[in-house]
Amino acid sequence: MASKSYFQFILFLLSLSNFSLKCCSLRNVDKETDFNKWVSWNIQNHQKKALWQAESVSQQVPGAGGRVLDGKLWKAETNKVRITVCQNGTGDFKTIREAIKSIPPYNTRRVILEIKPGVYREKVSIPKTLPFVTFLGNSSDPPTITGNDTASVPGSDGKPLKTFQSATVAVDADYFVAINMKFQNTAPHVVGSMGEQAVALRISGTKAAFYNCSFYGAQDTLYDHKGLHYFNNCFIQGSVDFIFGYGRSLYENCYLNSTAKKKASLTAQKRSSSSIDSGFSFKNNVVTGSGLVYLGRAWGDYSRVVFSFTFMDKIVLPQGWSDWGDQKRDTRVFYGEYKCSGPGANLTGRVPWARILTDEEAKPFIGT
Ligand SMILES: *[C@@H]1O[C@H](CO)[C@@H](O)[C@H](O)[C@H]1NC(C)=O
Ligand SMILES: *[C@@H]1O[C@H](CO)[C@@H](O)[C@H](O)[C@H]1NC(C)=O
Ligand SMILES: *[C@@H]1O[C@H](CO)[C@@H](O)[C@H](O)[C@H]1NC(C)=O
Ligand SMILES: *[C@@H]1O[C@H](CO)[C@@H](O)[C@H](O)[C@H]1NC(C)=O
Ligand SMILES: *[C@@H]1O[C@H](CO)[C@@H](O)[C@H](O)[C@H]1NC(C)=O
Ligand SMILES: *[C@@H]1O[C@H](CO)[C@@H](O)[C@H](O)[C@H]1NC(C)=O
Repeated sequence: MASKSYFQFILFLLSLSNFSLKCCSLRNVDKETDFNKWVSWNIQNHQKKALWQAESVSQQVPGAGGRVLDGKLWKAETNKVRITVCQNGTGDFKTIREAIKSIPPYNTRRVILEIKPGVYREKVSIPKTLPFVTFLGNSSDPPTITGNDTASVPGSDGKPLKTFQSATVAVDADYFVAINMKFQNTAPHVVGSMGEQAVALRISGTKAAFYNCSFYGAQDTLYDHKGLHYFNNCFIQGSVDFIFGYGRSLYENCYLNSTAKKKASLTAQKRSSSSIDSGFSFKNNVVTGSGLVYLGRAWGDYSRVVFSFTFMDKIVLPQGWSDWGDQKRDTRVFYGEYKCSGPGANLTGRVPWARILTDEEAKPFIGT
């Protein structure tokens, strides 16, 4: 996603110019000078950043035979450990929790937990002190980690868990990877009831990646809490706000399946200030399922979500986006769409503050 300054620049432009709400719809752009300036600035910034990244972010690591982007990660990957988890006792551990407990704190090596097929009824937590953990399942029979805690269920102290602690799997560590895994929270959501947020997975560590994973829940399935995250070829299902948080994430080739019975929102991105580098970008996704859904509703004042090259089924509400009843957010959020298809991508009824991105505007959102 784009840099912080990039968005501060947009906000700067919006506040400087005489943009009215109507004028902020870039679909109606009359090639304003500000807009043109912004576009050329955007291209330059993007190119500059690419150069900068190649030259100064990379590190010289002994043994790497050149510069690498992340020395710590490079070292961890060259020194992997593999342990197996199997419920029938033929692996190193029978439960995922035991396997995690066996990893020394402040681990510097990639630890691959090869998790054999099965349903693991466990509440799993990977603390901050255990980076470089990989959950590796079998693609022909992905293991399931399941639970049913909700925000209102009492914890060990007798107080409600709250959304944050309802997660079946909670990852506070950096450099987490999951491949061919199924994460589940089976607690149902009843329309209109309270405290039924039930997270399947919460990811709070940075530099995490998920390949071929599925996330099943109802309300608040995937807590994309914070950090830099990448999702590829994943299936994500839920009813209300089922992808939410402050994360700075790219979702590529994913399938977003709504199980909403009424009006709901797919995402609730919580960027709460213009200086936070966060946002969700969905590229080459499919949006389908049931209900009537907004692509996003603004949990934070500066919520930022972009959909590109995505097929949208008829379940997407014509308005597309919701400010969650707070109109000041209309000028602050960044909700963009680029080259989407399908009946839900019809732009006729979109809120005027939705942005239909040009090639240049889209570029910062569609690469890693
Ligand atoms: C235990 O589970 C593994 C992986 O699913 C399987 O390959 C193996 O045959 C099983 N062994 C026994 C004794 O059940
Ligand atoms: C995955 O599971 C299938 C079927 O149970 C088995 O044939 C295959 O060897 C497994 N693959 C790995 C990498 O364990
Ligand atoms: C949650 O699952 C447990 C079994 O793991 C079950 O005893 C309990 O009734 C379930 N709670 C709800 C609300 O479904
Ligand atoms: C992802 O799943 C596909 C099958 O759907 C499989 O071919 C591929 O190897 C899997 N990727 C990884 C990283 O295991
Ligand atoms: C998607 O959700 C709908 C319910 O909204 C369900 O009927 C359907 O089976 C789900 N699709 C997949 C691929 O699981
Ligand atoms: C988009 O929606 C409008 C209003 O419902 C309709 O008139 C128009 O034909 C639709 N466009 C496409 C390409 O389906």
